[in-house]
Amino acid sequence: MKLETVNILITGGASGLGKAMAIHLVDKASRIIVVDKNAELLEQLFSECPSIKCFTADLTDYQEVVVLVDHIFKEYGKLHVLINNAGIIHSEPLVNILKGDDARHSLESWHKTIDINLNAVFYVTVNVAEKMVKSRSKGVIINISSISSYGNSGQSAYSASKAALNALTLTWSKELGMFGIRCVAIAPGFIDTPSTRAALNETKIKEYKNATPLGRMGKTEEILQAVIFVIENDFYNGTILNLDGGLKL
Ligand SMILES: NC(=O)c1ccc[n+]([C@@H]2O[C@H](COP(=O)([O-])OP(=O)(O)OC[C@H]3O[C@@H](n4cnc5c(N)ncnc54)[C@H](O)[C@@H]3O)[C@@H](O)[C@H]2O)c1
Repeated sequence: MKLETVNILITGGASGLGKAMAIHLVDKASRIIVVDKNAELLEQLFSECPSIKCFTADLTDYQEVVVLVDHIFKEYGKLHVLINNAGIIHSEPLVNILKGDDARHSLESWHKTIDINLNAVFYVTVNVAEKMVKSRSKGVIINISSISSYGNSGQSAYSASKAALNALTLTWSKELGMFGIRCVAIAPGFIDTPSTRAALNETKIKEYKNATPLGRMGKTEEILQAVIFVIENDFYNGTILNLDGGLKL
């Protein structure tokens, strides 16, 4: 697909990787639509870049997603690219003996992580894909996964949610290929964004850098290059594109 012809929906595009994608792609694509639950950050994005179409929604609410997707298709006709990027990075061991009497992983944080990282991706994709199929738009669904999808110590909920995204990527690539809709996951290693620094302490970051053959975290631009490649290469499908500097967890 040619970038200049596509309408792109980016979830969680008000900060971090999603925001970088939106700002970088806005002059290259036909239209960039961003949805995020953080209205304040969305306003900031809109003031920095008024040509980005911004919508506030909590993607873990199925009805909100239905209304939002309907509205987007009515307003802009077609979507060609969906980037499922919204998510939270959550780190917590299964059992933490330092926590006191109840050493168990919090049930609340398990559900919260699965809800946004997995359930919301399903909610958005099932609604968008149906309309893409019915409107006969060829396109690509890009799931932002993670190196943690292969299993990372201290990240039960996060690793499980991202592993499920990898499975959905292959499943959807097989189901939707006949309609000309591709599905690909990009699985970054540790990328230098504010959310990485909030989720991991300095010691952990140093540990990951040392374990990465390239000796550093990834840069946002390196994820952008992958996104553009995936959109433009019409034969790239059903694959997890690992972008981790060679780090193996
Ligand atoms: N930063 C990294 O190193 C890294 C590595 C691997 C994968 N990832 C993945 O990349 C994606 C983006 O990460 P980031 O570092 O830019 O994080 P971020 O926190 O900066 O951005 C995530 C965005 O998602 C939005 N969001 C969260 N819950 C939402 C909801 N219920 N409804 C709508 N929007 C919601 C947030 O408001 C935020 O703007 C995530 O899926 C993350 O798991 C990041």
